[in-house]
Amino acid sequence: MTCLSGAFRAPGWENYRMDYRRPFRGLEPVEQEVAVIDRALEALRAAGILSRADYDLEAMLAHREGVRRAFDVPWTAITPRMERLIYAINAIHRPRTMIAAGIFCGFTFICNAGAALGPGKSYDADDLVGVEIDRAEAQRARDNVRRIDPGGTARVVAADAVSFVTEYPDTIDLLYLDADGTGGRGKAVYLDILQAACQKLPRGALVLAHNTVNCADELAEYLHFVRGESAFHRSVNCFVDPEGLEVTLK
Ligand SMILES: C[S@@+](CC[C@H](N)C(=O)[O-])C[C@H]1O[C@@H](n2cnc3c(N)ncnc32)[C@H](O)[C@@H]1O
Repeated sequence: MTCLSGAFRAPGWENYRMDYRRPFRGLEPVEQEVAVIDRALEALRAAGILSRADYDLEAMLAHREGVRRAFDVPWTAITPRMERLIYAINAIHRPRTMIAAGIFCGFTFICNAGAALGPGKSYDADDLVGVEIDRAEAQRARDNVRRIDPGGTARVVAADAVSFVTEYPDTIDLLYLDADGTGGRGKAVYLDILQAACQKLPRGALVLAHNTVNCADELAEYLHFVRGESAFHRSVNCFVDPEGLEVTLK
């Protein structure tokens, strides 16, 4: 079976740049941000990866505001467009189980999990797990998440994501990859995590991989794996900013 792969390029994506130390600073009018992400979602729908391209815009803004109030984010490369794209994909796909690997302070985790908890909640999930190998950052992420999700829908685990997904007892409806660096592997660890998780991804599961534009060289093997002849059906690289997000359908 051959995977159908492609790309979505937002006009001017190269010039949409953030200051990593000012995580919540707006970069463009919100209407423009919504329009760009609508086009990306429509490309994912047209590719057969998403069932719809619409999501609750008010809930997304409530989520964003809640995170801004609750989270301590020392730095991030997640732009407002990327935050919206990840939130919307989760709001549309509605994963019952979601694992985010390499979550640092928890910001990327909450971009995913925020569709099922807190002020931007739009569906009920069973298990949402953020995995971070650095214990101090895992604790920061746990504290951040607890402030927006006191009921505990989401959990943060200090662990190696490869071991965690290997031992995970359930299927995984959405896997988000953002780990960087253990054992000198850099972003190449994405492939280790995906291969360890592969059997647990049911048909229709999504895999989101951050940095597939600016780290495409480091991710060459990973991208070959998801786009080549493999277990995956569709894969689209979303150039919404200079970092990028590959969205893959099993
Ligand atoms: C560069 S950060 C991700 C930051 C995110 N892209 C952002 O902009 O907010 C990558 C994180 O992955 C973690 N990490 C590296 N290898 C890991 C592994 N095998 N399992 C879990 N976390 C890992 C690192 O400790 C680090 O906090």
